[in-house]
Amino acid sequence: MAQPLIVAIDGPAGAGKSTVSKILALRLGFTLVDTGAIYRCVALSARRANIKFDDVPGLAEILGGLEVTFRTDEDKNHVFLKGEDVSEAIRTPENSLAASQVSAQPTVRAALLGLQRKLALAAEKGAILEGRDIGTVVFPDANLKIFLFADPKIRAERRFEELYSKGHEKPVGEVLADQNKRDKEDSEREHAPLKAADDAVQIDSTHLPLSEVVHRIEELVSRLSRPKVGL
Ligand code: DC
Repeated sequence: MAQPLIVAIDGPAGAGKSTVSKILALRLGFTLVDTGAIYRCVALSARRANIKFDDVPGLAEILGGLEVTFRTDEDKNHVFLKGEDVSEAIRTPENSLAASQVSAQPTVRAALLGLQRKLALAAEKGAILEGRDIGTVVFPDANLKIFLFADPKIRAERRFEELYSKGHEKPVGEVLADQNKRDKEDSEREHAPLKAADDAVQIDSTHLPLSEVVHRIEELVSRLSRPKVGL
């Protein structure tokens, strides 16, 4: 059986990856693998079980029993942890910082590598993986690699609005400070830091509506699936 098309969408928090990936997955009929959500589920499980983020044996136990599934709907990409819908619980400000911390642990990264690949390769047509190291580590041979970024202030404003709409009233300055902390941790960590793959198409969404970002990526995907015309 032919391998599904693999589309990697990497970039920092708030660049629009989740919104863009969800719309693309629905339009193209591709499976969406939100890899950040998987790290967030590990963080949530550790917090619920009072396991510290540097407690390697404790984290290993969580990873051994981790069951994460997705369901992509028009409204959002639902995330289930052992069947429980944790889509909201994993996205609180506390769990966001926790996810960044657990994701720096090599044990966690190594354990999740196989799971991310398995979820994507089970797709029938294609898979969109959004994350930080998809094009560099998880699928270095992805058919298409996108690095989506934006000005930090714009990203913090988007995140502020998203949190506000869900009832989390956090001042935008604090959202920016949390985001800077996460950006720094994610980019400076030793294992699989956030960085663009050399062959990634870089898209700056600072002044670009996300609908235009979707359009550009769709065009790139359609070129992949179009048969080559040549002599
Ligand atoms: O994309 P996100 O904000 O939901 O990701 C949550 C955290 O998970 C993020 O701070 C870094 C980590 N992460 C990672 O290290 N590698 C990935 N492929 C995806 C996310």
